[in-house]
Amino acid sequence: MMKLLAIVGSLRKQSYNLRLARTVRERFADRFELRIADIGSLPLFNEDLEDRPPEHVAAFRRQIKEADGVFVITPEYNWSVPGVLKNAIDWASREDRPLSGKPVMVMGVSNGSVGTLRAQLHLRQILASSGVQADVLPPAGNEVLVRTGGEKFGSGDGLLTDDKTLASLDRKISKFLEFVESRKEGR
Ligand code: FNR
Repeated sequence: MMKLLAIVGSLRKQSYNLRLARTVRERFADRFELRIADIGSLPLFNEDLEDRPPEHVAAFRRQIKEADGVFVITPEYNWSVPGVLKNAIDWASREDRPLSGKPVMVMGVSNGSVGTLRAQLHLRQILASSGVQADVLPPAGNEVLVRTGGEKFGSGDGLLTDDKTLASLDRKISKFLEFVESRKEGR
């Protein structure tokens, strides 16, 4: 079975973005295995740590390397990506650069009206940088911009319940799976 990894840009326990990752894991359990990376345990990036990086950094890079594809699922903070996500990507952009050539799909949930659009534009720029060079699913027709998250998830730790959003998610994730398969065949 295909193995995918989710990198979630929020550390909040009841994060909508984390709950979107869990929704994807549950909904597609018969198509792929989804691990959710623990980026909250990564140290702040510091070049001085690079000679002997903490074990958690090595484990994070290994998880990316072992995955057939990666979902980056993030909120928008101040019109950009949260620092914790940038920190994780910075760690993944060094040494063996595990994101290089890796199929990636971007998604996000916000409580506002533009559904992380500005964060995703920055994120796409970061993922294209020379240190990262991820193989990102093109945005046309594939953007997952979940607006007004508060109205679309169950209470507490609840998963995504909005039917229209779920139908659109199913379509776009199926396209990502085809994208991942096509990259595997091309290898
Ligand atoms: C936000 N939020 C926010 N929302 C948005 O649409 N655009 C923005 O620029 C920001 N900026 C921002 C900065 C900071 C520091 C915080 C804490 C929040 C609101 C954000 O969308 C909301 O808190 C989401 O619920 C966060 O995602 P999770 O934690 O639910 O995944």
